[in-house]
Amino acid sequence: MYMKKIIIIIWFLFSSVFCFAQRVAIVGAMPEEIRLLTEALEKKHLIKYKDLEFYTGYLKGQSVVIMKSGIGKVNATYATTILLEKFKIKSVLFTGVAGGLHPNSYPGDLVIAEAVFHHDYARDMANEYEVRATRNIKGQKDNPLLFKTDSVLLNLAKISVRKISFLDVGNRNPKVFTGIIATGDTFINNPKKANWLYENFQALAVEMEGAALGQICYQSKIPFLIIRSCSDNANNSAHLDFQTFLKPAAENAIKVILGILEEM
Ligand code: ADE
Repeated sequence: MYMKKIIIIIWFLFSSVFCFAQRVAIVGAMPEEIRLLTEALEKKHLIKYKDLEFYTGYLKGQSVVIMKSGIGKVNATYATTILLEKFKIKSVLFTGVAGGLHPNSYPGDLVIAEAVFHHDYARDMANEYEVRATRNIKGQKDNPLLFKTDSVLLNLAKISVRKISFLDVGNRNPKVFTGIIATGDTFINNPKKANWLYENFQALAVEMEGAALGQICYQSKIPFLIIRSCSDNANNSAHLDFQTFLKPAAENAIKVILGILEEM
């Protein structure tokens, strides 16, 4: 009986220390998407590994590691895989900009992802382009088409946005959308493609990393959430709008990340 009690106490101490050692990972594709976070980091420590840089420290009292993944699905997959190998991660938050797809979306608006999918993982036929579910490596089993984000993180994001005052990027106070985000290795500068993504998948934003990170987290059983702010509308002027709105939109997404950390 006495021995059993000791084992329970040791197990409790061990698991609480292990839990404490776990960090929240925050990932952005470009320097502009993470700079304000690394600048705000307390007890900042830089770890260089291969071609990646990891900033560890504290934000809003949470132990975090911040990483730039680079642009596109291959870079995001590579960086996320190494991140999960190298650190004890309890959840992954992605922050950055995207092309807004909702007809009422403007630069600066926020999209909190309920799910992400690869819009370019597909069967391309003469008269049809069929987006397919990916498969994992082990067992070649089908993954879901939509990688769902974590419901707890999603809730924290929804609670936090009520308290945030966002930058007015365009001509109105930013709206917050919650729904599906499409990912592909293409910068969408094409209203037809933007409309196709919205009509066929109800995608509210398009970007180039989310589903890659989502797939790795899904396959590794790590909770994740993607927060994007619109830098453009994926239309004919997307390349120009992206340059104009990248910084303020990135800042709006970061405000949500800080809000989530505060609610944790
Ligand atoms: N990230 C920001 N804008 C984008 C767009 N139009 N297409 C893909 N990724 C983006």
